[in-house]
Amino acid sequence: MKPASSPASSPLARYSLTAIALHWMLAVAILSAFLVGLYLEDLPFSPAKLKLINWHKWAGVTILALSVLRLVWRLTHRPPALPEPIARSMPGWQMAAFHGTHHLMYLLFLAVPLLGWAYSSAAGRPIVLFGVLPLPDFVPVDPALADAIKPWHGNLAWAMALLVAMHVAGALKHQLIDKDGLIGRMLPGRG
Ligand code: HEM
Ligand code: HEM
Repeated sequence: MKPASSPASSPLARYSLTAIALHWMLAVAILSAFLVGLYLEDLPFSPAKLKLINWHKWAGVTILALSVLRLVWRLTHRPPALPEPIARSMPGWQMAAFHGTHHLMYLLFLAVPLLGWAYSSAAGRPIVLFGVLPLPDFVPVDPALADAIKPWHGNLAWAMALLVAMHVAGALKHQLIDKDGLIGRMLPGRG
């Protein structure tokens, strides 16, 4: 797909429906996985905790697969160019933050679940996706390695949550303060 330029007078150029569907599906899934992860951390060991850990792992692996799909889609389908007036009104640092947060989010969408997977494998608790499909271990069983990886899964999940918070704050600033309708680029619908 070619980048669509959008003169001020033309209707707002949107992301493709596929990109929009993946954005909102993954927004809900990633935030849920983060909150379940935090909740898990403080639960005492019990069968209920083990069940929830499995759901967290299955959700995380699904997020990983969808994020790979999303990245491939993103690299092969360029998003529409920012509308001229918005691009012109953004100072350099804002443009850098805009692109920087997007790039870093994509990196963390892959790194966080991969570290979760590596932690599970190193801890000797391999993943059986949805209880039926055993996934390979890509690190050996090693309790010391598991202890080293675990905090990184949590820390990077926090870094991702922080970036997402900055991203949402930026989107809301465009909507409520600049009132430039930027959010419409990521919503299906008219015009
Ligand atoms: C985007 C996806 C994911 C997010 C946002 C996420 C987030 C989190 C968070 C915030 C924690 C609590 C960590 C802490 O505060 O120290 C956690 C724990 C954990 N996560 Fe994930 N995670 C994801 C994917 C995965 C995947 C794919 C796996 C494994 C296949 C996994 C396995 C675990 C395990 C085993 C724990 C520790 C539970 C415990 O023993 O307390 N996570 N996750
Ligand atoms: C109220 C919540 C949210 C709003 C209003 C929102 C809005 C937007 C908008 C308008 C864009 C397009 C920016 C542009 O014009 O190019 C965008 C892109 C993006 N959003 Fe969100 N978003 C929200 C939540 C989230 C969450 C929770 C995540 C991640 C978990 C996320 C991840 C992304 C990513 C990675 C992009 C870059 C898309 C690309 O260019 O490939 N967003 N978002």
